[in-house]
Amino acid sequence: MLTKEEVIELLQTVKDPFLHTTFKETSGIVDVTVREEKKHVSVKLAIGKPNTAEQMQLQQEVVSILKRNGARTVGLRFEQLPDEMIQKFQPSSSETDTSILGAKKQPHFVAIASGKGGVGKSTVTVNLAMALMRLGKKVGIIDADIYGFSVPDMMGVEERPVVRGEKIIPVERFGVKLISMGFFVEDNSPIIWRGPMLGKMLNNFFREVEWGDLDYLLLDLPPGTGDIAMDVHELLPTCNEVIVTTPHPTAAFVAARAGQMALKTDHKILGVVENMSYFESEKTGEKEYVFGKGGGDKLAEVLSTKVLGRLSLQQPYEEEDLFAPSIYQEDHPNGQEYHRIAAKIIAQMEEE
Ligand SMILES: Nc1ncnc2c1ncn2[C@@H]1O[C@H](COP(=O)(O)OP(=O)(O)OP(=O)(O)O)[C@@H](O)[C@H]1O
Ligand SMILES: [Mg+2]
Repeated sequence: MLTKEEVIELLQTVKDPFLHTTFKETSGIVDVTVREEKKHVSVKLAIGKPNTAEQMQLQQEVVSILKRNGARTVGLRFEQLPDEMIQKFQPSSSETDTSILGAKKQPHFVAIASGKGGVGKSTVTVNLAMALMRLGKKVGIIDADIYGFSVPDMMGVEERPVVRGEKIIPVERFGVKLISMGFFVEDNSPIIWRGPMLGKMLNNFFREVEWGDLDYLLLDLPPGTGDIAMDVHELLPTCNEVIVTTPHPTAAFVAARAGQMALKTDHKILGVVENMSYFESEKTGEKEYVFGKGGGDKLAEVLSTKVLGRLSLQQPYEEEDLFAPSIYQEDHPNGQEYHRIAAKIIAQMEEE
């Protein structure tokens, strides 16, 4: 049967789930009693934060270690470590912001906006991220469309993020990191959030997610100039914007509203992306301007910016073994256009 010393020995290397430090270092093993005749071990542990889900996990870990080593029954009690000890090992004290918003080296934030829905914001976000990545940049995406999240499906992401300590580790696809509301709902069930919850979710995507070192963090915004757009303006005073429109002059007029809002809040507009600009006949190579012409130019003029690129109306090539329905391949005409757009953005962001 285990002795008291052996119990201490076994538990010393276990880590405090909140402080990520061994019980040896935190002096967290407060009391151990062993009752030989009943093979009962009782342990009192002091941890950084009692009564959390992490404590439950720790409980199971400790019980299984002790049972594996001969205890028949285990009694566990928990208390909180003294404040000095918590402060000494606390990974992030509340007054210093260790999230990506407080980091010394911040990524370039780029929000993808439009006046109305369905013009291709999410498609542009995903492909711009891919193009930046192909140009050697470290890229993350926040799918800030809390109701209409679509980025995971577009990139063919099936896994879910994992939680490590207190942080959410984003899912990685083709080297691009991604976080989406879609990861946190069951079976695509619709979610109804009230106004303040929206901002809180967005805030969590910055603060609770372990983004690591990023060069660019792209935000796929919901259509229009609603709550989320406002929250982004507030959270990210240094955000840049790419405005997506279709070539129809009316569409551009609507998109101008989103752009005007960016101007009002001092967000820098990097330029306009005109999506679904034309249809190119495979047979003749002729371009047909099915949705009209001039929308992108008009919008750029209103916003005193330029058109960064024009994408044709075309799906990515089909691929058998790789499922990512909205990502254009590097050699696809649209893939090449995204490459040029990304290069222009890099030039704007990094050469000033
Ligand atoms: N250049 C294009 N050629 C063909 N299909 C496209 C193109 N761009 C986008 N699409 C398709 O159009 C649809 C709408 O695109 P997307 O979801 O990117 O728009 P959105 O602006 O993000 O929409 P929402 O406002 O609903 O978020 C999608 O089915 C997408 O695959
Ligand atoms: Mg979208």
